[in-house]
Amino acid sequence: MRWRALVTAGLAAALGAACGPPETLGERACTAEGAKLTYESFGRGFFDRWCVRCHGAGEGYSSRSFTSVEAIRAARERIFVNAVGDDPPMPPGPDDPPVAEREQLADWLACGAR
Ligand code: HEC
Repeated sequence: MRWRALVTAGLAAALGAACGPPETLGERACTAEGAKLTYESFGRGFFDRWCVRCHGAGEGYSSRSFTSVEAIRAARERIFVNAVGDDPPMPPGPDDPPVAEREQLADWLACGAR
C-alpha cells in the first residue's frame, strides 16, 4: 500500500500550496526584504489606512488599539493570524488591503515589527 502513502503526501502538499502562506507567525521566516521594513516606512501607514478606524483607542468598534508600534508588536501573533493569508477576517471588508500589502505585513511582523 505504498502508493497510498505517496498519494496522501502528494495531496497534503497540494493542499498546503493551495492554502498559501503559513498560518502562524512562528512558521514565517524573517527575510531580507522584511528586515528592511520599519514602523515608519510601512507599519504606521498600513495600520492607519486599514485598521485604525476601528482599532484606534476607544474611538473604534474594537477596544484593541493599534496606534503604536508597541501595541502592534505585543499583539503581533493575533494580528498575523487575523490579517495575513488568502481570506483573513481582518479587516472585515468590503475594503481590503491588496495581497502584496498583506505579504508586507507578514514579513514585517515576522521580523519583529520594529
Ligand atoms: C470595520 C472595523 C474593523 C477594521 C477596519 C479592522 N478591525 Fe480588527 N476587529 C474589529 C472588531 C469589531 C473586532 C472584535 C473585537 C475585538 O476582539 O477587539 C476585531 C478584532 C481584531 C483582532 C482580535 C481577533 C482575535 O481573535 O485575536 C485582531 C488581531 C484584529 N482585529 C486585527 C485587525 C487588523 C490588523 C486590521 C487592519 C488590517 C483590522 N483588525 C481592521 C473591527 C475591525
